[in-house]
Amino acid sequence: MFARGKVILLGEHAVVHGRPALVAGLDRGVEAHATSNDRDVLCVVPWNREVAPTGDDPLSRAFQALLATLPAARPRIKVDANVMLPPGAGLGCSAAMGVAILGALHEALGIEREPRMLAEESLAWERVFHGQPSGIDSAAAAIGGVLAFRRGEPPESLTIRKPLSLVIADSDEPSSTKSMVDQVRRQLERTPARVETVFDGIAALVQSARIALDSGDHVHLGSLLNLCHALLSSLMVSTTRLEDLIGLAREQGALGAKVTGAGGGGCMVALMRSTEDAHALVDRYAATGVQAFATTVSPSP
Ligand code: PMV
Repeated sequence: MFARGKVILLGEHAVVHGRPALVAGLDRGVEAHATSNDRDVLCVVPWNREVAPTGDDPLSRAFQALLATLPAARPRIKVDANVMLPPGAGLGCSAAMGVAILGALHEALGIEREPRMLAEESLAWERVFHGQPSGIDSAAAAIGGVLAFRRGEPPESLTIRKPLSLVIADSDEPSSTKSMVDQVRRQLERTPARVETVFDGIAALVQSARIALDSGDHVHLGSLLNLCHALLSSLMVSTTRLEDLIGLAREQGALGAKVTGAGGGGCMVALMRSTEDAHALVDRYAATGVQAFATTVSPSP
């Protein structure tokens, strides 16, 4: 079972508080495979980790939370998960793991689920790591394509006019989604009028971005990404390192660039005019030792 990583185009943080967001599934993610075994065990291949659902660490507890969603009378199962995303980078690594592992368990047990249901049930895993996830990462992991997402509502698959040429660059600063979401929540409690206004501004950008995606107006979409970054920065989720990466992308002709995901480190996303421009930017980052990759989001998933 393959589940995708994701890049949030616009709307992170505001989406936790009921505003809409736009997310795209990536072609890299997590592949998981389950086989019957003499005991339940999860092996995370690239991390060399093997966990039983009885441990007290987050990975064991998250595995336990997924197993608890399965019928009680079932054979014991071993799951191998191959993670092809950096963790803690805002690319939805943990959600993709949850979806891929639960999907693999379902495949092994002959349980059939619509992608939307799989995303919903896999939130048991996400809650262990992120407290109160909006569910946007899990929806993108299970469904792919470009989605409009609002908490508590079914995700809406969008058709986009033209492919999106994106560059994703990693600040190499690990960040915790939970602590960034908590930090924004504390600001909301202290200064509700200010933060609600920021969230409403982000929601307005999301609505305009839907129109830009539909009409293929990437110049406008890029400026919406830049505006979204400014609003997110006012919530103090950017870092000096992310600002440097975003600045370099804009210097190199990005139509727009912003932090993606929870921030406080992790990744930035840049919208480029073409795949050639995207590869040129990746090379420019590589020359300075920055991990980056180019990806294309296609009109059909
Ligand atoms: O897990 P991340 O870093 O990709 O961030 C998820 C997006 C947030 O809006 C910050 C949190 C959420 O649950 O939607």
